[in-house]
Amino acid sequence: MAVQKLLRMGDPRLLEIAAPVRDFDTPALHVLIADMLDTMAAAGGVGLAAPQIGVGLQVVIFGFERNERYPEAEPVPLTCLLNPQITPLGEDEELGWEGCLSVPGLRGEVPRYTRIRYQGLTPAGELIDRTVEGFHARVVQHECDHLIGRLYPTRMRDLRKFGFTEELFPDLRA
Ligand code: NI
Repeated sequence: MAVQKLLRMGDPRLLEIAAPVRDFDTPALHVLIADMLDTMAAAGGVGLAAPQIGVGLQVVIFGFERNERYPEAEPVPLTCLLNPQITPLGEDEELGWEGCLSVPGLRGEVPRYTRIRYQGLTPAGELIDRTVEGFHARVVQHECDHLIGRLYPTRMRDLRKFGFTEELFPDLRA
């Protein structure tokens, strides 16, 4: 279990399509998830996808009680989600500010579906099936985008709403 190096935007591995997990509850999978949890905690993030530490598997983690990077956000249960599938519920979208541990120091305003259903598996291979909205829905969409090689700036529609966290939100940590 160890904090791993975070890949940053520009690394071609962040643009690859991740492969589904085939073997559940294995020692290697538990080490990967422990490393991801350690890495996310060390960086103070609310979510992390395996490709961000150079592992091309469909594994994302997210969740927090309270987070300094997103002090206004409602809590999201800590979740390890494998082989996720997202179904938008309706066409409603909302704009919200996002950051990414692979795009350090920056924030952008990104449109996301307001309400989604997401399904996937736990590390033990058990089904997860949730209907969520708001920041929870945003985090899941952001993390799952990493599995298809998308970083949030490529989802933005108004690049004027893209900038350094310290300039946009002087009270927040980058
Ligand atoms: Ni990210």
